Amino acid sequence: MIELKCVYKKYKRGLFFSKSYVDVLEGVSLYAKKGEHLGIIGESGAGKSTLSRVLSLLELPDKGKVYINGEEITRKNISKKRGIVGMVFQDPSTSLDPKMTILSTLREASANKDEIDKVLCEVGLRKELLNKRPYELSGGEQQRVAIARVLLANSEYFIFDEFTSALDVSTQAKIINLLCNINKNRDYGFIFVSHDVKLIGFLSDRVYVLYKGRVVEETKDLSDVKHPYTKVLLKGEIDGSDSFVDAGCSFYGFCPYRMEKCMKEKPELKKIGEYEKVRCFLYD
Ligand SMILES: Nc1ncnc2c1ncn2[C@@H]1O[C@H](COP(=O)(O)OP(=O)(O)OP(=O)(O)O)[C@@H](O)[C@H]1O
Ligand code: SF4
Ligand SMILES: [Mg+2]
Repeated sequence: MIELKCVYKKYKRGLFFSKSYVDVLEGVSLYAKKGEHLGIIGESGAGKSTLSRVLSLLELPDKGKVYINGEEITRKNISKKRGIVGMVFQDPSTSLDPKMTILSTLREASANKDEIDKVLCEVGLRKELLNKRPYELSGGEQQRVAIARVLLANSEYFIFDEFTSALDVSTQAKIINLLCNINKNRDYGFIFVSHDVKLIGFLSDRVYVLYKGRVVEETKDLSDVKHPYTKVLLKGEIDGSDSFVDAGCSFYGFCPYRMEKCMKEKPELKKIGEYEKVRCFLYD
């Protein structure tokens, strides 16, 4: 299991000598289990990619804890543990080294020729492509190489951050079929991260909704969501006409149900069902 406990992450705004920070993750707690297809949704800037980098052990949080299979991740063990979680990025052309042939890229993950042949077959890539460089491949083929690389590294968890947005619709469908096939026996934990709520709803067993660096809802059923933000996100009706208000609830300025209490107090994420949690005073 991957577990995040009250994780905070901030970045410097502007140049390196700037003293102003942007809070990107604000106390995120979540878990991902092996065999599960987990979804993380939220609008642009919600902190999804930052969360993906913490989950895939590319970065440590500023505050809070990360556990992989019960072991706490620290500065000392992070590089050793990194292989457990593989990341497939949005744009495969930038995640593959343009100077390396596909074979050299895959060899970095495994030197075993039989394993490479097996994985190539699994991701549906022809052997003739092995001596080519990424720019000679289509976007879909490049994404298959990125998936093959994570499979060869024997990762237990795969994180897919906006993994289909650089692909055309028919290639997206092929890659999604491929992933469902790869994990049909549920050997791996898959974490799908996207602003595309339909895609996440289709692929995931359980979903976290991220808003301004906080989990505002956890659910197994995107057809019965509770948080006012999730409802708006699912309808695709984010209304930018209301202005941001520095209130207790970060959704206050946009919320049609806001109450006096929401201005003054911060809602906590509360359990409202076996798998359902929501951060909203309407469910107190
Ligand atoms: N390395 C960084 N340095 C400075 N600011 C950063 C850095 N990474 C992210 N941010 C800021 O953190 C916020 C969240 O970014 P993040 O990329 O995690 O969001 P996201 O939900 O993935 O958005 P998108 O859907 O557009 O990919 C943004 O305001 C972004 O500008
Ligand atoms: S806490 Fe209040 S403002 Fe925030 S989402 Fe719930 S009702 Fe709306
Ligand atoms: Mg992102």
